[in-house]
Amino acid sequence: MAIDLVIRNATIVDGTRAPRFQADVAIRNGLIERIGTVGSETAGRVIDASGKILAPGFIDAHTHDDRLMLSAPDMAPKVSQGVTTVVAGNCGISLAPAMRRMSKPVTPPLDLLDDEGDWFRFSTFKQYVQELENNPAATNCALLVGHSMLRVQTMENLDRPASNGEIGRMQKLVEEALDAGAIGLSTGLYYEPARAATTEEVIEVCRPLSARNAVYCTHMRSEGDGVIDSLEETFRIGRELAIPVVVSHHKLMGKPNYGRSAETLPIIEKAMHSQTIGLDCYPYTASSTILSWSRVGIASKVLVSWSKPHPEFSGMDLKDIARAMNVSEEKAVQKLLPAGAIYFAMDEEDVQRILAFEHTMIGSDGLPHDAAPHPRLWGTFGRVLGHYRRLGLFSLEEAIYKMTGLTAATFGLTGRGAVKEGFAADLVLFDDAAIADAASFEEPLAPTKGIETVIVNGEPVWHQGRSTGARPGQVLKRTPQRSANH
Ligand code: ZN
Ligand code: CU
Repeated sequence: MAIDLVIRNATIVDGTRAPRFQADVAIRNGLIERIGTVGSETAGRVIDASGKILAPGFIDAHTHDDRLMLSAPDMAPKVSQGVTTVVAGNCGISLAPAMRRMSKPVTPPLDLLDDEGDWFRFSTFKQYVQELENNPAATNCALLVGHSMLRVQTMENLDRPASNGEIGRMQKLVEEALDAGAIGLSTGLYYEPARAATTEEVIEVCRPLSARNAVYCTHMRSEGDGVIDSLEETFRIGRELAIPVVVSHHKLMGKPNYGRSAETLPIIEKAMHSQTIGLDCYPYTASSTILSWSRVGIASKVLVSWSKPHPEFSGMDLKDIARAMNVSEEKAVQKLLPAGAIYFAMDEEDVQRILAFEHTMIGSDGLPHDAAPHPRLWGTFGRVLGHYRRLGLFSLEEAIYKMTGLTAATFGLTGRGAVKEGFAADLVLFDDAAIADAASFEEPLAPTKGIETVIVNGEPVWHQGRSTGARPGQVLKRTPQRSANH
């Protein structure tokens, strides 16, 4: 039997938290055919992995790559750090369904995907999935449909809860998205287009998730003073529908809330005994989203990541921009809109405590269309494996589990997230001594150091610092499973 690719003498960290071991891996037809000693049978290609770590390709638990997969299908920001699958459609924001054309200016924060609106061109979720299948990206994806997008598509006035009729229309769209292959729904209750939605509205809109045990992911109403109420709201939605929930990019914003992860994590852990809960985190003390004056107040520093009318100020400190414009910061914000920003408003100790929590997945929350993006877009996985592992937050085996096995289990991506015979050949080969993030707030576009080869469905997509041009990505469907947290 012909083997397509053999990786020899690898040190395998298999994604399950098991201790590393030495073996060869044979790949055939996109799958891991054999792990052990692979003999002399002819392989199309051999990679010598002596001294290198071979791990399951990383699964980015939280992305906004809905459009990147189509507009820059090499997915360089992701494959360059070892990511082979992205979970897209987060924070209530998805590219589809868009039966209504998005008029300019595109409603923030949906404009994070495309401020021109031209990419909102798929009138059904199925059309979007078909486009991804006809023109695959380098990475696999798992897709969420966004609640804010559904509101924009079905409601004239977003400042109130949805009526029964509107809820009915949103439910139909959720069903259509699930039929087309979406693995769940996301909300962004913190953001203006969804803020007026009641818990009851969300439960009703999400009702179709129940029958399929699909996932509910949420950028919660509050990540600050109201964080405990928001956690309770999230858990309630999961309980009433008997579905798994994921707390997106768990963090505590604003000085008065510094240190409160010591309070939130035990609450999450306790609730995990009675329902299925996941959470993800990115390894930085700065957040990034749209620019707005109301958000500036809680931050010690604000960088502008893009501005439609003033692209020349991308990457600059808001204070310096206000000085250059010779206006107040508040006035400067008005002049910059629509725009994006990076807010320094978290505590390093919280970030470390959340990252180290055994149930926390790694998700970048990268914003790929920003002119001067938050470095999490290119640096997240290298920073966890480099900086934070070397600080001693976790072992290499634990760090990799947080980006592979744990994530695949949470999102129901069976046959992924582990180096196991019969599993998809999504793999990353890297130098344990060299791995480190290079992207910074000053130089955000730098690829992670130490990544050798990244393989998606058996095909190398990134090798020695560059894209290979291969685009073997698949749209992954959720395998329904009812599982309580271990
Ligand atoms: Zn978010
Ligand atoms: Cu997000």
